[in-house]
Amino acid sequence: MEHLFIDGNRNLPVLLLLHGTGGDEHDLLTVADMLSPDSPKLALRGTVQENGMNRFFERYSEGQFNLEDLEKRSDELLEELSRLSKKYQLPIAQMIPVGYSNGANIAGHIMLERQGNFNTAILFHGMFLGRHTQSFPLAEQSIWLSAGVNDPIVPFSTAQDLQQAFEKRGAQVTLHQTMTGHQLTIEEVAAAKKWLASMT
Ligand code: MLT
Repeated sequence: MEHLFIDGNRNLPVLLLLHGTGGDEHDLLTVADMLSPDSPKLALRGTVQENGMNRFFERYSEGQFNLEDLEKRSDELLEELSRLSKKYQLPIAQMIPVGYSNGANIAGHIMLERQGNFNTAILFHGMFLGRHTQSFPLAEQSIWLSAGVNDPIVPFSTAQDLQQAFEKRGAQVTLHQTMTGHQLTIEEVAAAKKWLASMT
């Protein structure tokens, strides 16, 4: 996978940046600089192409996901992370996924369906993808979610479904509600930053 690594203070968590549909590994760098400027940052580019737009897994149409591909790409992403974690000597357990939309969705899916990866995550405008095959506990996990009450792409209720999926497994979840649509706002990044500072 194409990636970008920017080293930083190794005593701080590593921010793992996962862009939204049509983005790339540069998209969330400004957000990461706001969240934790001195953190090492590892940004990945999704390998799926949808009409020239990068994504982390296939979908048939808006909100209709190819769940088989989701599983395949989740494994592919974890394999790449394992490779990059060795290359840059970054323990995966110290990585905090910071995902937006499609990137938030694959990170959320990995936390729910693949045991033993991330403990903390910031997921902007993500949703529950309807895949539920695992039941391992997530009692050590803390997740910050944001969702827009007027988001036409990720309906607010689907973000609440994601919150519930995590909470049912014992995770600590903060759901930050925005009054806007699907866009990532400065205000929500500031709220995530405050939360992250309280976690680390
Ligand atoms: C997706 O994964 O498809 C998102 O929820 C929506 C998007 O990225 O456009």
